[in-house]
Amino acid sequence: MFFGSRVLDVTNFKHPGPQKLISDALNTDIQEDYTEQAHSGYADELLNQLTIGYLPEKVGHTRLTNEHFMNGLSKEEEEIHNWLDRNIDLKKPLLP
Ligand code: HEM
Repeated sequence: MFFGSRVLDVTNFKHPGPQKLISDALNTDIQEDYTEQAHSGYADELLNQLTIGYLPEKVGHTRLTNEHFMNGLSKEEEEIHNWLDRNIDLKKPLLP
């Protein structure tokens, strides 16, 4: 199942709530239902553990704004970011 762009593997997941809510939601995006239910921080932690990947088409390739440095990046930082963008494709596994 999906949580926004996250892909969750719930094969062995035992839901503390009704299990049917999980089996009925296979292959769907549960973000809205999950959020409406007001799950705990513990549930969020479980969600992290169940995450096995991200849908590439939903992961935007934009840089986060730096609230402490509104004028953008220094030349040196820009070069480092460009180097990372050229050499690391986060849509692929980092290890073979
Ligand atoms: C893989 C995703 C999910 C995880 C990891 C998860 C985790 C949990 C956990 C840990 C609880 C116990 C209460 C708490 O700590 O908040 C809980 C309760 C509950 N969950 Fe989920 N949940 C998931 C998906 C869903 C979905 C899709 C629904 C659909 C609406 C749902 C509905 C509920 C309900 C109704 C309860 C309350 C049960 C009760 O109070 O007896 N959960 N969930």
